[in-house]
Amino acid sequence: MLAKAEIHCHIEGAAPPALVEAQARKYGADVSGIIRDGAYFWSDFTSFLAAYDLAASLFRTADDCALLAETYLASLAAEGAIYSEFFISIDHARGAGLDPADYVAGLAEGIGRARAACGIEARMIVVGLRHLGPEAVAATARWTAANRHGLVTGFGMAGDERAYHPRDFAAAFAIAREAGLGITVHAGELAGAESVRAALDHLRPARIGHGVRAIEDAALVGRIAAEGVVLEVCPASNIALKVFASYADHPLRRLDAAGCRVTLNSDDPPHFHTSLGNEYDIARTRFGYDEAALMRFTRTAIEAAFIDGETRARLLEKCAAAVIG
Ligand code: ADE
Ligand code: ZN
Repeated sequence: MLAKAEIHCHIEGAAPPALVEAQARKYGADVSGIIRDGAYFWSDFTSFLAAYDLAASLFRTADDCALLAETYLASLAAEGAIYSEFFISIDHARGAGLDPADYVAGLAEGIGRARAACGIEARMIVVGLRHLGPEAVAATARWTAANRHGLVTGFGMAGDERAYHPRDFAAAFAIAREAGLGITVHAGELAGAESVRAALDHLRPARIGHGVRAIEDAALVGRIAAEGVVLEVCPASNIALKVFASYADHPLRRLDAAGCRVTLNSDDPPHFHTSLGNEYDIARTRFGYDEAALMRFTRTAIEAAFIDGETRARLLEKCAAAVIG
C-alpha cells in the first residue's frame, strides 16, 4: 500500500456518523437533522457548519475524545497513512461542556492508542474560529500558548472565511508564533485570491488550508511557489462544498505545475463522502497522477508537518520505503 499522510483534517469533522449516533444515544440527543441512512446531510457551507457543530457537541468527556481520535487514526492507518496532523477546536470543547485541557489530554490518549496499535504518528493543531471574531481567536491563541502540550504543534484558523479580514487576526497569530507553534490558516476556499494574499501578508503562515482559489491570480500563484508556502488541498471537500463545479475545473494540477507545494487531505471526510485513501484515488483517476507523483504528495506533507527533525527523518525514511504494511 502506498504510504500516505495528511496535514488538514478537522477531528470533529472526521467523526463517523455511526459514532455520532452512538454518542447521541449515550447523551439522549437527536441527530436525525444531520444524519440520515447512516450518512451526514446538509445543503451549503452554513448548514455544513451547523451539522459539524452538533456532532462536535456530543464529545463531552476526555474518554469520548480519546475514542474519536483513535477511531479516526485507526481508519487512516488502515488506508496506509503513516502520519496525520489534525485540527482541534477548544471552542467546540467548551461548547460541549468539556475543559480544554481534558479535551487535549483525551485526544492525546487516542493518538497514543492508535500509535501503539497501528504505528501511525499524529500531531494536533489548535484552530480559532474566524466567525467568532478576533478577540475569540486571540483568546484561543493565548490559551494554547499558556497550556503547551507536546502533541500540539500548530495554530490555525478555520470557520467562515467570509467573516472579518485577516488583518483583524494578526495579534492572535503573533501570540501563536511567539509560542513557537507552526502556522496555517484557511483561505482561498469560500473567498477568492485576495483572501489568500491578505492571509499571507498579515498572518505569514507556512501553510494555507485549501488556498485553491489562488488560481484566480497568476501573480499570487507565483508568489506561493516562490515562497514555498504549502497548500493543504482537499479535492473532495471542494467539490462537495461547490468551490469548483467539477474535478475538471479543480486547479490541483495547475497549482502543482506552477511549482506550488501541494498536499492531499480529507478535511471532514464523512461529510464529503471521502477518506484520505479516496483523495489519493481521486488524484490518480481524476487528475492522472502516477504512484511516484502520489508519493511526492506524501513526502511534501511530511516535509511541511509541524514536527521535530527526528520524527520527520523517521517518517521520510518510511516514505523512501514507499510501500508499507
Ligand atoms: N471547519 C471544518 N471544515 C471546514 C472547512 N472546509 N472550511 C472552513 N472551516 C471548516
Ligand atoms: Zn478545513
